[in-house]
Amino acid sequence: MIWHKQWIFGNWKMNGNQAENAALLQALRSVSNNNAHIGIAAPFPYLSQAVDLLKNSQIVIGSQDCSQFAEKGAYTGEVSATMIKDCGAKFVLIGHSERRTYFNEQNQILRKKIDNALACDLIPILCVGETLAQRQAGQETAVVGEQLAVLQGLSVNHIAVAYEPVWAIGTGEVATGEQIAAMHAFLHKEILSIMGENVTIRTLYGGSVNANNAAEILSIDKVNGALVGGASLKAEAFSAIIANAQTE
Ligand code: 13P
Repeated sequence: MIWHKQWIFGNWKMNGNQAENAALLQALRSVSNNNAHIGIAAPFPYLSQAVDLLKNSQIVIGSQDCSQFAEKGAYTGEVSATMIKDCGAKFVLIGHSERRTYFNEQNQILRKKIDNALACDLIPILCVGETLAQRQAGQETAVVGEQLAVLQGLSVNHIAVAYEPVWAIGTGEVATGEQIAAMHAFLHKEILSIMGENVTIRTLYGGSVNANNAAEILSIDKVNGALVGGASLKAEAFSAIIANAQTE
């Protein structure tokens, strides 16, 4: 069911506190749109709070990362996929560009994270995207193709990927309709070729999505949803984006 809806997911990044979260989630918990699968990636310490506050709502909670280590043990500071699942989360972002930039996360580690998420029934959302310099050099599909190679040999029937051009994240600069359409067509083609024709795919666009541009972005061919940063921190803006999810 969720694999045929548009996915409208928020990523809070390192924002929030218990009081702010409660106010935001109280305002959001009544939103509904049958065309949308709605999620919020919250910081680790607030996963349980968010899950509790969203009980009986249409919104699921996930995390922004998980450990590369599968088993519990002596990994100070790490949070396992199993712990995230235990908090009631449903999904985990993997390889967000901020993880790639600040923590040098690459395919070998990212694959472990994907495997750990899948092993405990969390949906991994693989984040991909090129930098401005890479796009200016005409390397965007080569870069994203290399990032998608992490999916090789994965035996699942469903996969979710978020395309977030690094130059569009938090900048107010949105990729053009043509750029988004071209990359999403590439994503679908490439994922089918890596994972086989029977895989069901959700591709989300992320990068300065807001209440004003969501309708246009969500109507682009092969855009199966949106991953929203800044605008997901405001109830009004995130609700307005959710309202734009449409049947495909
Ligand atoms: P912004 O919507 O703030 O540009 O962030 C996008 C993003 O990185 C979501 O994961």
